[in-house]
Amino acid sequence: IGQVMKYIESCPSTQIIAHKLAQEGTADGTVVLTETQTAGRGRLARKWDSAPQKGIWMSIILRPDVVPQKAPQFTLVAAVAVVRAIEEVTGLKPEIKWPNDILINGKKCTGILTELQSDADGIQALIIGIGLNANQEVEDFSPEIQEIASSLKMASGKEVNRQELVRALLFHIEQFTNIYIEQGFAIIKLMWESYSSTIGQPIRARMAKETLVGIAEGITDDGVLQLRTADGKLHGIYSADIEMQN
Ligand code: BTN
Repeated sequence: IGQVMKYIESCPSTQIIAHKLAQEGTADGTVVLTETQTAGRGRLARKWDSAPQKGIWMSIILRPDVVPQKAPQFTLVAAVAVVRAIEEVTGLKPEIKWPNDILINGKKCTGILTELQSDADGIQALIIGIGLNANQEVEDFSPEIQEIASSLKMASGKEVNRQELVRALLFHIEQFTNIYIEQGFAIIKLMWESYSSTIGQPIRARMAKETLVGIAEGITDDGVLQLRTADGKLHGIYSADIEMQN
């Protein structure tokens, strides 16, 4: 991962560039990095704040023969790798909030967006976008997210070296990808659950059509959240906004 690196001063979104490179046949493990995005995108068609020079805005292109048909699992691999990289570089203790937000002290400091590129022959590439808030101050975030977003600098009081972080990120993503390929998903799932602030907790899951309240019991091998409601039923949650109940 990172053998081929494309660095761009500014772009609408590294995801868009990564999709284009993937279509043109770029190598497995190609990484796109930028200093700022003018149209950074988040999950559920939201926008992603990408203040210039303050964060790590990157997309990684993976070929499906490396990660066969397992997009959700790979998102969890990436989340575990991001947590490890942040721990290593800053000593902070991040938590994962399902599906793959990384929080510090309850505030979001990293988001992961996995997109598929497919055609008639099947999945051609997985594009993993990582947005990591490194050195922002609170006023670098849009007013509407200032309460819920954070950066490593805000959490630790120290400026972080972004180069060091990129190195650590790529190293751990590669390591955990190899562990995943060689040893399977079970070990990744265990690590993910151990970093998770969601599992075992009472939560509220807001979905497009309904809201469910219950205990988050775990995730399936596809990354689907298992929620037990008071009537004893187990629900599979595919996409939702999660709020902790306490
Ligand atoms: C989320 O909603 O939590 C996911 C956010 C993902 C943001 C990253 S920044 C690099 C890459 N390019 C984008 O436009 N989005 C992802």
